[in-house]
Amino acid sequence: MAIWNLGSINIDHVYRMDSLPSPGETLASRSYSIGLGGKGANQSVAAARAGASTHHLGAMGRADGWVLERLADSGVDIAGIRRLADEVTGHALILLDAEGENAIVIHPGANRAIDETALPDALSNMAPSDTLLIQNETNGQVAAARAARTRGARVIYSAAPFDLEAARAILPHATILAMNAGEARQLFAGHPGDLPVAGLLITMGSEGAEYRDLTTGQTWHQPAFPVDPVDTTGAGDTFAGYFAAALDEGRDIPAALRLASAAAAIKVTRPGAGDAIPTRAEVEAFLARQPI
Ligand code: RIB
Repeated sequence: MAIWNLGSINIDHVYRMDSLPSPGETLASRSYSIGLGGKGANQSVAAARAGASTHHLGAMGRADGWVLERLADSGVDIAGIRRLADEVTGHALILLDAEGENAIVIHPGANRAIDETALPDALSNMAPSDTLLIQNETNGQVAAARAARTRGARVIYSAAPFDLEAARAILPHATILAMNAGEARQLFAGHPGDLPVAGLLITMGSEGAEYRDLTTGQTWHQPAFPVDPVDTTGAGDTFAGYFAAALDEGRDIPAALRLASAAAAIKVTRPGAGDAIPTRAEVEAFLARQPI
């Protein structure tokens, strides 16, 4: 069992603000930091720190070797990451307000210049028991999903950043669709009626998360663990990566939801995205302190 992730790799430039600027307004930040990010890289780090054998497929520029080192240090297999001479590494400008809420601008760079024709080969070692993760920050989503489904593998698609056309294109090839509550509202409005996937994972911040098994009609709800958030960036990615890792190791849905929810709760108490994702040992210790 293993996790393969066609995912974005970003350098996050994070500006802490008292409040987010309105259109036309100029504000000075209180602090500035740089860290590992990208919805894909964050999910790979989460899956690897959860203990899953994790292979990242993606692209970045020729510079920024520290990004690769940080992924590898987290336990991610980086052999499937290409260095592109004519593209910059993707990056994100992240504005964080005093409550830890964010506004993000991304420049895709190499994330949208992945060689799609190479994806079926890159996934040729996938087994039917493996899982492919995809988000909406790279090109090649449908090619990768098709290749994975051909091999009988599970495909978990995070519809983020939300784009209805991208979601529609991937739906016939996805097994599980992962979204936050806002993304789910947009999807249900734009795609009324039945969805051709086996399950929906919906994260709702402080209101918890739920998984709907569309094949049986059963729904599980996981309350959020109460914490004081300092930075919500990457919380959804942490949830998705841990959830996938839990399914990969054979956990059932309630156990996967609980593990992922605990990981996301710890993440929001720490500044940063990929760098702030907890290890499995930290998550288990956190869970051991919770009332049953
Ligand atoms: O989901 C959080 C991520 O979104 C950040 O790390 C940023 O890079 C953007 O891709």
